[in-house]
Amino acid sequence: MVSISMLIREQVHLAPLTTLGVGGPARYFAEAYTEEDVVEAVEFARSRDLPLFVLGGGSNVVIADRGFSGLVLKIAIGNPTRSVTTQGRVVFITGAGYDWDRFVAQTVEADCAGLECLSGIPGTVGGTPIQNVGAYGQEVSETIQQVRVLDLQSMQIRTLSNVDCRFAYRSSIFNTSERGRYVILQVSFALRQGSKPTLRYADLQQFFAGRSSEPTLTEARDAVREIRRRKAMLIVPGDEDSHSVGSFFKNPIVPHDFFEQLSARLLSAGLQLPSYPATDGFRKLPAAWLLEHAGFTKGYSKGRIGISRKHALAIVNRGGATAAEIIALKDEVQSRVMERFGIALEPEPLFVGF
Ligand code: EPU
Repeated sequence: MVSISMLIREQVHLAPLTTLGVGGPARYFAEAYTEEDVVEAVEFARSRDLPLFVLGGGSNVVIADRGFSGLVLKIAIGNPTRSVTTQGRVVFITGAGYDWDRFVAQTVEADCAGLECLSGIPGTVGGTPIQNVGAYGQEVSETIQQVRVLDLQSMQIRTLSNVDCRFAYRSSIFNTSERGRYVILQVSFALRQGSKPTLRYADLQQFFAGRSSEPTLTEARDAVREIRRRKAMLIVPGDEDSHSVGSFFKNPIVPHDFFEQLSARLLSAGLQLPSYPATDGFRKLPAAWLLEHAGFTKGYSKGRIGISRKHALAIVNRGGATAAEIIALKDEVQSRVMERFGIALEPEPLFVGF
């Protein structure tokens, strides 16, 4: 018999623990404040043969209306950030449950560059390696040094290096080949003290256009938060357009030949298809543009859900929506984009309990 000292609750509503705000209860629910809590919760789930779902900040999940019939483990390991200086880099080490934006603020206050463009993203530190969070010209894969995990196969705590995580656009081993194997406990980021902010992304360059002096890290952070707010990609109480998972679909990466044919076809219909560079032989297309040109424009409404008024890539819950309504709109978007452009849009969030 496993002896459990942590509090395990039953039938806990999950919708309020997510930014989208849909879905039913967790059969069992626990919060882990320490690594020992994580081990204990996993043992509890195993002793009852329950599936386990690890929840972070709830900013990238869609929970099914029937909820989750196993144990939902909320990672609340929020050890204060420590930092050490090695080989010209300042390494920040933080618990997986620590609030992401609060962490970014600390690195900027310490005059360390590398995460400033990732300001204003909801969720926790431990969620960021999973989909290799990226925005405004930076991805966490550029600065993550190590990820400390509990390996559920061996029940050993291990340290994975950046290379071990096999990061790519919105992906890593945590959401592909090794999905469900590791519980992320702590992440370390190697940052550059005294360096300038990354001002690569067009939105940021426009924000600072006409300035004669170089923006500071703090100014870059503030600019990113302001740009996100305008797109409702910043959680602002009272802004119903921010009740979303952020981008609902990944930006599709298509072979160059396909891109050429599609853009020629659209051009003959008077439409200029925007695109971005990707790996050799591929182009990345803005999913938001595809949605808008498939009829899902900003502000589109269907009952209690719709498309954000400020960004076409966010499906929003306008109050009291169900997961079924969200899924119906997702399916409709995918089939219209397929019909119109021959592109299979891949959703970006995790689906739980479906
Ligand atoms: N666009 C539209 N309509 C819109 C918004 C955008 O047509 O309503 C088109 C425009 O052509 C625009 C292009 O899409 O130039 C790109 O838009 P944006 O700069 O807003 O970026 P995104 O590609 O839609 C990605 C990330 C965001 C991240 C931003 C900024 C993905 C799936 N999304 O969005 O990440 O904040 O870039 O770097 O890669 C998230 O993952 O949840 C997320 C918000």
